[in-house]
Amino acid sequence: MTATRGSAAAGEPEIRILPDPPAASRAAAAVIADALTAAVRERGVAHWSTTGGSTPVGIYRVLADEPFRDRVPWHGVHIWWGDDRFVPRDDPLSNVLACVEVLLGGAGRGGLSGTGASGFALDGATPGVPVPFEQVHAMPIAEAIGEGRPASWAAARYEAQLRVAGLPLDAAGYPILDVILVGVGSDGHLFSVFPGSATWDDPAWVQAVPAPTHIAPRVERVTLQPRILDASRLPLAVLHGANKAATVARVFGPREDLRELPAGLARRPGAIWILDEAAAADLPAAIRAGAIVGG
Ligand code: 6PG
Repeated sequence: MTATRGSAAAGEPEIRILPDPPAASRAAAAVIADALTAAVRERGVAHWSTTGGSTPVGIYRVLADEPFRDRVPWHGVHIWWGDDRFVPRDDPLSNVLACVEVLLGGAGRGGLSGTGASGFALDGATPGVPVPFEQVHAMPIAEAIGEGRPASWAAARYEAQLRVAGLPLDAAGYPILDVILVGVGSDGHLFSVFPGSATWDDPAWVQAVPAPTHIAPRVERVTLQPRILDASRLPLAVLHGANKAATVARVFGPREDLRELPAGLARRPGAIWILDEAAAADLPAAIRAGAIVGG
């Protein structure tokens, strides 16, 4: 398919519309790979925050395969999470599990991702990408659960880990990650920042979030402060499916209060939105005219 090159209106992010979820995953993987490669080239290290839900799985699959497995300087990459659920690491609801299984799986046996003593080395035929084990920064939720500590403990400890990593800070004092991948919920949440969230009023970098009652999974969470998305060099939102079309249309309609529509935070210049056709179906025509369609 020939891509139609749009030109994003001033103050708007770049929007790319792909035919289907696999094409959107390939496009997102290429954006992440380029951002990580550039960061390692320019600063010797790359900090990537990934997401949960179903969206990242296809992206991990592409990144774990050629050409990205060999092309990205994985030894310089740090992986963080924008949010996680307060469940054990082997629980299917864990946001870490898919990353470990699909992107990092088995790498411990190659000697590049540690010994596997902490559970990252899995039985699998294909080695994952060689991110050094100590650079995979899962939220310490398994530790909290194991030691009978609350989500607030995991949040404080994760903030301490982020501070020790020595990332540059923006003017407001938030860490600048190189790329933050987010999915968006049908209610307009990103990270675990739901409509009406109290996270905006707490400057802590990492916060415990009570289990949402309006959307599944209804489990307690730990999330980054939403302003960390804004501080990042590249916010990357990826959405698939018809059930996201109304949310996408809302985000790109008249600006709403971010407290009611947290996903609006990623509608800023320099951000990239990758949508499949189903998710883009109800985009306002003026915004669609500025999108890159088909590639
Ligand atoms: C979480 C996520 C969350 C997710 C969206 C989209 O832990 O719930 O990090 O913010 O990205 O809910 O989820 P899907 O990709 O499954 O649509």
